[in-house]
Amino acid sequence: MSKKTVLITGASSGMGYASTVLFAKQGWEVYAGARRIEKIPSGTGIHPFKLDVTDAESRRAFVQAAQTEPTLDVLINNAGYGEYGPLEEVSLDKVHKQVETNLFGAAELTKLVLPTMRAQRFGRIVNISSIGGDMYSALGGWYHVTKHALNVWSDVLDTEIQQFGLRSVIVEPGGTQSSWGDIAMGSIKKNASANTPYQALIDGTLAMVTRVGSHSSATSEDLAKVFYRAANEDKPKLRYYFSFSDRMMAHFARVHPTLFHKTVMRMSARATR
Ligand SMILES: NC(=O)c1ccc[n+]([C@@H]2O[C@H](COP(=O)([O-])OP(=O)(O)OC[C@H]3O[C@@H](n4cnc5c(N)ncnc54)[C@H](OP(=O)(O)O)[C@@H]3O)[C@@H](O)[C@H]2O)c1
Repeated sequence: MSKKTVLITGASSGMGYASTVLFAKQGWEVYAGARRIEKIPSGTGIHPFKLDVTDAESRRAFVQAAQTEPTLDVLINNAGYGEYGPLEEVSLDKVHKQVETNLFGAAELTKLVLPTMRAQRFGRIVNISSIGGDMYSALGGWYHVTKHALNVWSDVLDTEIQQFGLRSVIVEPGGTQSSWGDIAMGSIKKNASANTPYQALIDGTLAMVTRVGSHSSATSEDLAKVFYRAANEDKPKLRYYFSFSDRMMAHFARVHPTLFHKTVMRMSARATR
């Protein structure tokens, strides 16, 4: 039997890097894409590819390269980042870029692999969202919008493609050790205006994140194992989580929106004290 093939975006760091290593170790052909090709791991079965998910030509070339394999089994839409800051102050140009990366990039890549998967009558799209696709917090507004949207997009896609033997599923990581936190938290100050009225909220939030962040237990390797399950289970679930507490937090926000909102309000109030 020929080897299975997976396409992974955002393979130069964090969970995408760790998944590239894991899938290759398990004998898959891994088409691993990121803008910093030099940071993508190398090894047997790994095909590093310079990919910008916001660029149509780059996306096409990435999928074409993988189409040289006998089958396209799994696409993992993992590339993403958080553009944080007060909603009043984050520039919409930056928001557009984030939506292009976290949502439209995933959607366009999926459109490129679906015809092959449909012809095979098997294949799976694994979308890396976040518990922040169900929850939210102050200063993360547009990031949460991209992940909420990714969840709905993936669920609707799943209702349309199951008839062809294909599935679209979501992984919702919670806080995980990677470059993500530094990038997201670093963007808050860059996006705030010089005399921002949100200074107290920003300072308090950053202090809180520093405290909680240092306790973030999950590693990117832990999440790579979750990606692997989402890609391989015979009867895939709609949602995958690393921990019970991640699952419960997402559930709480979904099922008790008013209570959840009050909890976030309390955190914001504490941050501004
Ligand atoms: N870490 C967390 O706490 C956490 C929690 C929930 C969800 N997530 C989500 O999990 C996913 C992986 O994040 P991570 O934690 O592994 O973060 P990370 O270490 O910062 O890795 C992000 C990856 O995305 C890639 N990327 C960004 N923009 C891209 C673009 N335009 N084209 C191609 N690749 C691009 C980066 O590669 P280049 O810069 O080289 O292109 C990098 O490889 C993201 O979708 C993130 O939102 C993270």
